[in-house]
Amino acid sequence: MGLLIKNGEIITVGSRSFADIFIEQETITRIGANLEAPAGTEVIDAAGKLIFPGFIDPHVHIYLPFMATFAKDTHETASIAALIGGTTTYIEMCCPNRNDDALAGYQLWKSKADGQSACDYAFHMSVTKFVAETESQLREIVADGTTSFKIFLSYKNFFGVDDGEMYQTLELAKRLGVIVTAHCENAELVDRLQKKLLSEGKIGPEWHEPSRPESVEAEGTGRFATFLENTGATGYVVHLSCEKALAAALAAKSRGVQISVEAVVPHLLLDKTYAERAGVEGMKHVMSPPLRAKHNQAVLWTALANEAIDTVGTDHCPFDAEQKFLGKDSFVSIPNGIPGIEDRVNLLYTYGVKAGRLTMDRFVDVASTRAAKLFGLYPRKGAIAVGSDADLVVYDPNYRGVISAKTQHSNNDYNGFEGMKIEGRPSVVTVRGKVQARDGKFVGERGRGRMLKRAPAYF
Ligand code: URP
Ligand code: ZN
Ligand code: ZN
Repeated sequence: MGLLIKNGEIITVGSRSFADIFIEQETITRIGANLEAPAGTEVIDAAGKLIFPGFIDPHVHIYLPFMATFAKDTHETASIAALIGGTTTYIEMCCPNRNDDALAGYQLWKSKADGQSACDYAFHMSVTKFVAETESQLREIVADGTTSFKIFLSYKNFFGVDDGEMYQTLELAKRLGVIVTAHCENAELVDRLQKKLLSEGKIGPEWHEPSRPESVEAEGTGRFATFLENTGATGYVVHLSCEKALAAALAAKSRGVQISVEAVVPHLLLDKTYAERAGVEGMKHVMSPPLRAKHNQAVLWTALANEAIDTVGTDHCPFDAEQKFLGKDSFVSIPNGIPGIEDRVNLLYTYGVKAGRLTMDRFVDVASTRAAKLFGLYPRKGAIAVGSDADLVVYDPNYRGVISAKTQHSNNDYNGFEGMKIEGRPSVVTVRGKVQARDGKFVGERGRGRMLKRAPAYF
C-alpha cells in the first residue's frame, strides 16, 4: 500500500514548490501535480503545511558512560523524542574511553541501538587512543559502514587524545576517505584552570565557563585545523560555541583547509547566565564547551546565515537533576551535557526562520541536507527527490506551544529550554514511508530504525 501526501509546499535547498509526493514501499517514487494513487493508498492532506526532508541531527549522545554515570536515554526514548520533533535520522557518538577496546566498544554501541530505535541512525566512531591494533580495528569499523571518526582534544585521560594520536588518526582518515569530527578544547589548559579555580574555593557551576574560556576553545580549533592542513584530512568542528573559535576555523578555511563547522542549539539560544543560576538550576546548564557570553549568539546566527557554519546539531546528552547534583561540591564533577533532540527543529524554525535570522533555504540546509552531504547520506537522506528514502516532515507553521519537561519524551526530568515559546511543529513525520509521529505523539513502530551504512568519501 502506498502513501500520498497532497497539497503541501515542498521545501528543499534551492527550491520551493506545491506538489504531491507519492511513496511506494520506503521510497519516493513520484513528485508532481495532482497525482493519482491506486485504491488502498493512504492519503495525507498537507494543505497549509510545509513539507521538509526528514531532519538530521549530526551529534547526539544516547548510550554514554561519562563522568561517573550514564546518560539517561535509550534508543527507544531518544528516537521517539527525535521523531516527534521532526528528526528522522541521528548520528550518535560512539564513545569508548581510553581504557576500552575500540572494536568491542563499537559492537557495544551498536548492540544498544539494534532493534531499539524508531528512526534511522548512524555512528561517528570515537578514536580515544592510538595503539598497535587501532588501524586494523578502524579499518574494520569503516568497512562496516561507519565512515566518520570523532576525536576529543579535551577530557584529559578519558576520551582525550594527544597531538601524536590526533596526527595518526587524521593521517589514517585521509587514507581511508573518512571525515574526522572534533571536540576542540585544550585539555591541558582546562585541567590547569580547573585546579586553580578549585584551589581558590570556586566550586559552583558558574566557574565551569571560566575553567574553559573562549581562548581555550579557539586554541583547540586552530590546532585541529593546523593538523588537518598538514595531513590533508577533512575535518568537522563539533559544537563550536564562540566568536574566537569561529575566527580560528574561518582563518583555516580561507587558506584552503577542508574544515566544516557545527553549531548546537544550546549555544545559539542559551548564554552563560543560565549556568550561573544557583544550585542545581545552574548545573542543568553545564556542558562543554560551556554556554558563553551572550554576544556570541548573534555571531553564530550570522555565521549560519552566511554559510560560515554548516550544520546545527544538539549534542543531546541527557543527565537528570540527581546526576547533575553529583557536582554539588565541585563543578568539575557535574556531568556535562544538555538534552535537546526533541526541540532542535522547532527552536531553529522559531528563533531562526520566524525571527528572520535564517532563510527557509538555510534552515533546511543546516538542519538536514548539509549533514547528509558531509556524512555520506545524501541523496538517500536530506532530500525530497525520486529515489530518496521517504523521510518527510509535514510541518504545521501555525502551531503555537511552549517547551516543557512535563510534555517531553526524552527520558529526563528537566528541559534546558523550559518555557521557551515555539511557533510551528511537525504534524506528520515519516520514516521510509511509514508514519511514525503525528502532532506531538508517537504513532509508529518501535524498532523500525536501521543503522545507515555509509561509503567512504575520499575527499
Ligand atoms: O557537555 C557535553 N558536550 N557533553 C557531551 C560530551 C561532549 O563533549 O560532546
Ligand atoms: Zn564534545
Ligand atoms: Zn557531544
